[in-house]
Amino acid sequence: MLKRPRRNRKSAVIRKMLEETKLSTSDFMFPLFLLEGKKKKSEVNSMPGIFRYSTDLMLKEIDECMNLGIRAFDIFPVVDEIHKDKTASKSYDPDFFYNESLSIIKEEFPEACIMTDVAMDPYSSDGHDGLVDENGNILNDETLEILGSMALTQAEMGVDIIGPSDMMDGRVEYIRDLLDENGFENTSIMSYTAKYASAFYGPFRDALDSAPKFGDKKTYQMNPANQREAIIEADLDEEEGADFLMVKPALAYLDVIKLLKDNYDLPIAAYNVSGEYSMVKAAGKMGWLDADKVMMESLLSIKRAGAKVILTYFAKEAAYYLNK
Ligand code: PBG
Repeated sequence: MLKRPRRNRKSAVIRKMLEETKLSTSDFMFPLFLLEGKKKKSEVNSMPGIFRYSTDLMLKEIDECMNLGIRAFDIFPVVDEIHKDKTASKSYDPDFFYNESLSIIKEEFPEACIMTDVAMDPYSSDGHDGLVDENGNILNDETLEILGSMALTQAEMGVDIIGPSDMMDGRVEYIRDLLDENGFENTSIMSYTAKYASAFYGPFRDALDSAPKFGDKKTYQMNPANQREAIIEADLDEEEGADFLMVKPALAYLDVIKLLKDNYDLPIAAYNVSGEYSMVKAAGKMGWLDADKVMMESLLSIKRAGAKVILTYFAKEAAYYLNK
């Protein structure tokens, strides 16, 4: 035999030397759930090890993460039902606890990278990402105005990256123009470019209590059957001024990550979503697989497929692992 690929796997040193993909804590962005009030911490039932924190405790959590080398965070609000309405009006109220907390967090950690989510669902009494009319249709152009106000409010709080996750058409350009007109030309946009209508978001909707009150999100989020449609979305996001293209979920859509990586020069991000986290945790708890090893293999696969930034609930645990 002239060729024996096993020779390149014969020792730990050679294997390490030939490793093509390397994970680092700087690849991770850690999603966090923010509660109103003080000294509050509650675990998400369907996401063991993941907690919702009030601002004071979230500051501690961020500090701990920073010491582990995680310096990017995506912060989501848990909004009480009494604050929800048709137009998601709390989302652009600068005095609402979430927006106030963003500026406190940025002030405390100016060197951290803080991302926020732009979509109506956590603040909407309909639980949809867009404005709903009397017939249950999700209105596109009317929603843009609300998304714009939300994004601008978050930018005013000093966040580094705005993350439109709503999948309305034209939102990246709308937000980009509005930010620029108001002097926020340095605020970045990470567009949820290829966001699929996925059942993997279930635990996240538990965490925020943000499930749609009727219907599903299939008229705005993408059909899981489609790959080519991601190109249409990515072309638009690039033209409209996005700084990052994101694919979501990650593991079931590695082909889409690779497709965007091969066809676009913008950095690719992938969101290793709540359901992907919960599955590993559940099987680990049952003793059916080694959750730590599956975690690291999953993250590695996402990076190997072409994602430079990985939004993941595993960030902290993976950082412990990488720092060992
Ligand atoms: C809000 C939003 C969702 C997620 C991120 N932003 C839920 C959804 O679109 O229904 C999901 C994140 C996860 O599952 O971890 N639009």
